[in-house]
Amino acid sequence: MSKKPLRPDGPERAALVSVQSRRPVPGDALAELEQLSASAGYALAAELTCVRPRPDAATYIGSGKLEELGELVSASAADAIIFDNTLTPIQQRNLEKALGKPVIDRTGLILEIFARRAQSAEGKMQVELARLEHLATRLVRGWTHLERQTGGIGVRGGPGEKQIELDRRMLDDKIKMLRLRLGKLARQRSTQRRARGRSGVFRVALVGYTNAGKSTLFNALTKSRTYAADQLFATLDTTTRKLYLAPQVNVTLSDTVGFIRDLPHTLIEAFKATLEDTLQADLLLHVVDASSPMLREQMDEVDAVLREIGADDIPQFLILNKSDLLPLDLQVTNDHIPSGDAEPHATIARFAVSALTGAGIAALKAALLQAVLADPRFQSTASAESDSTPFCA
Ligand code: GTP
Repeated sequence: MSKKPLRPDGPERAALVSVQSRRPVPGDALAELEQLSASAGYALAAELTCVRPRPDAATYIGSGKLEELGELVSASAADAIIFDNTLTPIQQRNLEKALGKPVIDRTGLILEIFARRAQSAEGKMQVELARLEHLATRLVRGWTHLERQTGGIGVRGGPGEKQIELDRRMLDDKIKMLRLRLGKLARQRSTQRRARGRSGVFRVALVGYTNAGKSTLFNALTKSRTYAADQLFATLDTTTRKLYLAPQVNVTLSDTVGFIRDLPHTLIEAFKATLEDTLQADLLLHVVDASSPMLREQMDEVDAVLREIGADDIPQFLILNKSDLLPLDLQVTNDHIPSGDAEPHATIARFAVSALTGAGIAALKAALLQAVLADPRFQSTASAESDSTPFCA
């Protein structure tokens, strides 16, 4: 996959805003938003953080901060304003009116990145469905923002009542059609999955917070060249490859879409079909960026999504990746994870690895082999003494 510039006519410059509900504001409250907006092709113009226990109903940040933001936007000549929070349609509209620039919220930004990154026809359909469903919730009177957002689906006209009716009908039709087509693809996939299930393949799936290093680990394990980049959501489609562990012992390894805090619900829904591959796995490799200051929060987010899709009882190996970025004394001990929620009971082992340097990969492969050999299906195949029927395809 080539690295295409997302905005060929030069990056737009964005002012980033993060509103926290309470102090202390984490040092890198804006770090993830910076990365997300860079992934969507925006250059950084300015940043603003503030604390507000409850969002203002009209503008989210309140009039005083809005004034400050207006000054910041003019001084930095920002083209757009990106919020790390989820805005209501009314808040977004009021902010755009007051600032005279497009305002994008966290959901809109993530949808924008997904729309630019989707590769397969199915991935593109899933993102389009999520985008249209998100848009359908924004069809309110006086929402002048629509024309810009709906350019891609051929909806024209102003925000009049009648036009909104028409827009809604068009959106509903398009949503229905996409659901039908995706449903058909999901059925085809489940047939393929059943076929794989019958062949007795041991399935391993990589899951993890975006940028944790899943694709890099996938490549290190399978020696393939999946796209790995320092961008959020470089991978949107599930890729599955065979992983050789020992003579007659191969497993399938799937790389899945990265998880993220506040993943828009429409996206979780849209990607459920893709994530179902995760559900079918015999073992999950939960990859974390061990060097991230947000390690615990990121692990909790992934566990929350796994719970939501019903995959939280699948046995997990916790993979502490990027060990090369840790101080030497922590590189081998595995036990520097800050306390937080209890680790899911499904975690059966922990490994410190560096997918980049290869450190710890051999030990991980050895443990994978042990997990396969301990599987009852392998035992029964082995006792059948049939060399021509390997346990794993
Ligand atoms: P998404 O597609 O967003 O879900 O990301 P991902 O989890 O697949 O991460 P990816 O493999 O694309 O890696 C993200 C960045 O982390 C890339 O710049 C990698 O080179 C880097 N990276 C991955 N593994 C390691 C590691 O072990 N050490 C270091 N230093 N960097 C790593």
